[in-house]
Amino acid sequence: MTTVTKKDFGTLSTGEAVSLYELKNSSGAYVEITDFGGAVRSINVPDKNGVLGDVALGYDDASGYEKQGKYIGALIGRHGNRIEDARFKLGRRVYILDKNDGRNNLHGGIKGFDKKLWTAKIDGEALVLTYTSPDGEEGFPGTLTATIKYTFDDNNALCIDYSATSDADTVCNLTNHCYFNLDGDGSGSIENHSIKINATHFTVGNSECLPTGYVAKVEGTPLDFTSFHVIGERINSKHEQMIFAGGYDHNWCPDGEGFRCVATLKAAKSGRVMDVYSDLPGMQFYSGNFLDGTAPFGKGGRAIQKRDGLCLETQFYPNSMKFDNFEKPILKAGEKYHHVTVYRFSVDK
Ligand code: GLA
Repeated sequence: MTTVTKKDFGTLSTGEAVSLYELKNSSGAYVEITDFGGAVRSINVPDKNGVLGDVALGYDDASGYEKQGKYIGALIGRHGNRIEDARFKLGRRVYILDKNDGRNNLHGGIKGFDKKLWTAKIDGEALVLTYTSPDGEEGFPGTLTATIKYTFDDNNALCIDYSATSDADTVCNLTNHCYFNLDGDGSGSIENHSIKINATHFTVGNSECLPTGYVAKVEGTPLDFTSFHVIGERINSKHEQMIFAGGYDHNWCPDGEGFRCVATLKAAKSGRVMDVYSDLPGMQFYSGNFLDGTAPFGKGGRAIQKRDGLCLETQFYPNSMKFDNFEKPILKAGEKYHHVTVYRFSVDK
């Protein structure tokens, strides 16, 4: 049984009030989520000794979230990751988007869903966030309403249930940009964590981190996580893919279809384990290469340094509108987008 409560989380520069919601389960483990950007602000789960610790990076108040440019904890939309040249063809039209990553569109554009104040509602054990994106926002067609249902159950599973509808054909690729550190926020680099990614293939990227359309085997590369590897083991490899991305920042193609376990993350020191489940075709493993210690500072005023956290972003493959061999994130007018991601926390004793 989970109890959801609400408190103040400060104000935006516009004067709008922001709230923080706490989802606490029967064991006392809890997750905090703000309606600004729908960001997960903390995830407090036990270590191998039963001691609660916060495994998500975040900020102390709303202004941190308003100022940040790293998408920490936030919901991402309408389209997670990159769209090359900030344009895509749908039907007979080419849609021109805002550019916010060189010539490309990243994570929905200049003011994506991570910078919106969502409408929040406590619905029993769930927190439901809604945002309606007007037709043409950031260049995307159709008025799109996104509804995100967050739950945190007694098995310490944080479930993110994403749905959306649009009044015109559009693209929709929603994700969450939580930065995890299973030894705890502020405990240093995630390079000592181990990860297993249930994917024999990944999408080859170029120097802009854009998929080129090629799907390659992970075998024989530093991207092979079909069995557990320590993240730092090959992160400085001279393999071209690692040089291009400055670490891990690639889309894996998890094996199988439908809702399945796509990755497992472990931290030996705390004994914490996180399993990621998704029904989407892709997952971006991003090792926090662009975190750089600059303001705004994180919780407790601490600077957030390179690789202090890592992201596992479930998604359609980036740049997928461009390639026939990639499943497309097209949402037709009147149809329903519905996908589910679960981050489940446990311990290895
Ligand atoms: C994603 C991208 C990265 C980076 C981060 C945000 O994970 O793949 O290249 O842009 O978001 O900093």
